[in-house]
Amino acid sequence: MKRICYVVAMVAEAQPFIERYHIQEVKDFFAPLPCLLYEGEVDGVTLNVVLNGQEHGSDLVGCEAATVATLSAIQCLHPDIIINSGTCGGFRAKGAEIAKVYIGNGVMFHDRRVPGDDAWATQSLGNYPVWDGSERLAKTLGYEMGKVTTGSSLDMQPCDFEIIQQHGGQLKDMEGAAVGFVCSLFQVPILYVKSVTDLCDSGAETFEEFSRNLHQACDALKVANERVIDYLKGQMN
Ligand code: ADE
Repeated sequence: MKRICYVVAMVAEAQPFIERYHIQEVKDFFAPLPCLLYEGEVDGVTLNVVLNGQEHGSDLVGCEAATVATLSAIQCLHPDIIINSGTCGGFRAKGAEIAKVYIGNGVMFHDRRVPGDDAWATQSLGNYPVWDGSERLAKTLGYEMGKVTTGSSLDMQPCDFEIIQQHGGQLKDMEGAAVGFVCSLFQVPILYVKSVTDLCDSGAETFEEFSRNLHQACDALKVANERVIDYLKGQMN
């Protein structure tokens, strides 16, 4: 492995480790697409961060922009591994805490309710493979693992919760399964590194809780990603 590529939705999520590794923006690399490329080198390994980009002054969160970013990253950069790193909602009932970092052990959609036969349902839910080294990494670095479930909204409707519960979901985000879908098409390994900003079962207003904890969760993400990069570097060299 010589090229690690992060796909990240929000500037706040990526900024701490962009600064840590002094990686630079490669201007207009993906133009006219909204995604942005940052590139640097860490001990002989190329480190890319692809951000979803912005529209009307706000980060393009969600599956559409994550799909564009991941497809562009894979086709233009040919990474050995994609890491989807970012914040997520967690569940207090399943042991989540604010700023706790998880490694994903599965990924699926929770808001695609398509009636029909088993084939439609299976395809809609996704359930894409994660990198087969994810578990060893999590064990070595001491992170818990959890199943990432993805939808297009920050809030959680009862019908979302039903699917999340049914399928053992632990981490609720807005991009993971889209990134996983594209990686599955190209058979590029995907690792999920997620940090909790809000507890979906806390009764708090999600956006308020998310905003209040964003900084703390992103700091935890930076620490985790430094350790992840060190670990992967060791496997590459
Ligand atoms: N990102 C951070 N918190 C989230 C939540 N509760 N749902 C979806 N994406 C999130």
